[in-house]
Amino acid sequence: MNRVSEEKSVRALLKAGIAQLRDAQVPSYTLAAELLLLHVVGRDRTWIYSHPEEEISASDAERYSALIQRRAAGEPTQHLTGKQEFWGLEFEVTPDVLIPRPETEHVIEVALDRLAVRELRAGRKQKTDGVGLRIADVGTGSGCIAIALAKELPCAGFIATDISIASLAVAQRNAIRHGVATRVQFTECNLLDGVLGSPLFELVVSNPPYVGRREAATLMREVREHEPETALYGGEEGYELYADLIAQSAKCLSPRGVLVLELGHNSLPAVRPLLDESTWTKVGVTNDLAGIPRVLAAEKL
Ligand SMILES: C[S@@+](CC[C@H](N)C(=O)[O-])C[C@H]1O[C@@H](n2cnc3c(N)ncnc32)[C@H](O)[C@@H]1O
Repeated sequence: MNRVSEEKSVRALLKAGIAQLRDAQVPSYTLAAELLLLHVVGRDRTWIYSHPEEEISASDAERYSALIQRRAAGEPTQHLTGKQEFWGLEFEVTPDVLIPRPETEHVIEVALDRLAVRELRAGRKQKTDGVGLRIADVGTGSGCIAIALAKELPCAGFIATDISIASLAVAQRNAIRHGVATRVQFTECNLLDGVLGSPLFELVVSNPPYVGRREAATLMREVREHEPETALYGGEEGYELYADLIAQSAKCLSPRGVLVLELGHNSLPAVRPLLDESTWTKVGVTNDLAGIPRVLAAEKL
């Protein structure tokens, strides 16, 4: 029996949705039930809790019930609502792109810090607007990294690459949504293949696929069954793309150019040795909130 569609008030619908997701062992089931209800009624969170007795229309209750069932069957909440927040911005997400993750915000933080330090060392004010900067985002997916940086650096220019043409279409729409489309050029290519030989970059950022295929069985079903394989797997071990990415970045970066890479939970021992001293300096590692080495950054000599 479907508990959700029999209910009518906000409070009762939410309670039934939470119970159904809890029974299905959905992670963060309360939040998921709330987000799906907000999506259906087109309201914000305060409305839900300030109007607990309000009756929902039968068609909205039916839509909510259908979404709860899909969520209980494993579809990610973000695929059902079509959106995810990242760096305080709302991004369109579809099954063609990786859902932006909170830990990727450390990539933005490290990139902005490194650029600010470069400015200081050059004797300029610490906060940069990115004037004159060329930045490459490799494996852009939803476009979240390039677009967040473009919002922070309103004068910088960007190239964002991806091997998936479908993800580039989503990224392009996100760039339009956030008013940065004129400064981000989207390019379908392998890593930086399509931009080798173009003018050098001051910053290369990437959150490449880094899950090992041999780890696939350990992924949550929401991830394994619903997110794109090209966005998840970096090879059998997971870290296989970093060698080419670092070698290409060395060719594409200007002297003192900055490289910022997101790492998989166990990538550091395999990736750190790829930054050889003859090419790279000022190597730094930043942990995420769980204490996992998450971001590797370096400067080209
Ligand atoms: C982990 S996702 C990151 C997406 C986005 N940058 C983010 O942080 O949410 C990796 C992205 O790299 C892309 N990708 C995978 N292999 C690639 C390759 N060889 N060259 C370019 N992009 C690639 C995938 O299609 C996917 O969009």
